[in-house]
Amino acid sequence: MARKTLARTGRGQEGAVPAQALLAWYDRHRRRLPWRALPGEPVDPYRVWLSEIMLQQTTVKAVVPYFAAFLARWPRVEDLAASPVEEVMKAWAGLGYYSRARNLHACAMAVADGHGGRFPADLAALRALPGIGDYTAAAIGAIAFSLPAPVVDGNVERVVTRLEAVDEPLPGAKPLIRALVADMLDPARPGDFAQACMDLGATICTPRKPACGLCPLQPSCAAAATGDQETYPRKAPKRTGALRRGAAFVVVRADGALLVGTRPPKGLLGGMTEVPGTPWSADFDAAAALTAAPLPLPFRRLPGVVSHVFTHFPLELVVFRAEAPAPMPAPTGWRWITADAIAGEAFPSVMRKVIAHGMPGI
Ligand code: ADE
Ligand code: SF4
Repeated sequence: MARKTLARTGRGQEGAVPAQALLAWYDRHRRRLPWRALPGEPVDPYRVWLSEIMLQQTTVKAVVPYFAAFLARWPRVEDLAASPVEEVMKAWAGLGYYSRARNLHACAMAVADGHGGRFPADLAALRALPGIGDYTAAAIGAIAFSLPAPVVDGNVERVVTRLEAVDEPLPGAKPLIRALVADMLDPARPGDFAQACMDLGATICTPRKPACGLCPLQPSCAAAATGDQETYPRKAPKRTGALRRGAAFVVVRADGALLVGTRPPKGLLGGMTEVPGTPWSADFDAAAALTAAPLPLPFRRLPGVVSHVFTHFPLELVVFRAEAPAPMPAPTGWRWITADAIAGEAFPSVMRKVIAHGMPGI
């Protein structure tokens, strides 16, 4: 049974004991991460922002090399703002969720031009910047500017739902979780508190087999007291999207060049490079696929399919391949890229799979 409901969370100091235990633990065990200032060092809001955008939906391990590369190439937000967006997209390739890279660049420009190169120390002003939602505004506010904002990511949700035995399933429990975190955080050290919760969730209060014996919150943890910590956070049953199918066309010129285009800036894989194809749909008709071919060439269907799983749906693509004679202009909206430019092009993973299928050995 949950100890708290939204109506019963109060202002008081009831979070003070767990918060101080958590901060004492953090002072000893904090992870050293390249975007974190050491105790006493000034915090660079640009680094905090860049890391928070990169860390959305991605692991710390995957982000570390990208963070280093971005910082070496664009040491200040003005440098990033001055870079062509295509360069930012290419440097981002591999991190996924590409609309974030586009927003990253737009945000850098907004900060450089609209805020004199300084991130605003205000939640509403941060929230108004491209790519900054409630979570990221709270994280930047707390970590870079010591604003007492509740920072709630997946790790924090897990820690708090266990600590307080929150029985309401996600996502409905989010307002309650935010209120619990707001009650508990230490307004003297909001950034450390937020990152302590994240570190605890990443290293001790893990999804499977949390190390409660090592946890500074164990004396106050409701779920550990009853032994059902692994059942939190409760989740409403999830519906995954229906399978979508489609065709992709790999057109290779006699000199090895590949026919590609750029996806529209908004939406799934916005702004990334792709090979021509049909729309992806649940009622894809393989027999009619060739009517979508980009050039009147003798396409042949390659055996097998390319499978990929997006957040909202699984995808299966059949791949058609054709060879084009060397001096053949690209159809409107498409372009040829040379074989040695393929590796550096901003292809999403699904397109890399298509190319590997259609051009084995490249
Ligand atoms: N995930 C998101 N933000 C983070 C941070 N500041 N430290 C560690 N993990 C994070
Ligand atoms: Fe998580 Fe266990 Fe700590 Fe509770 S005691 S917060 S379940 S690690």
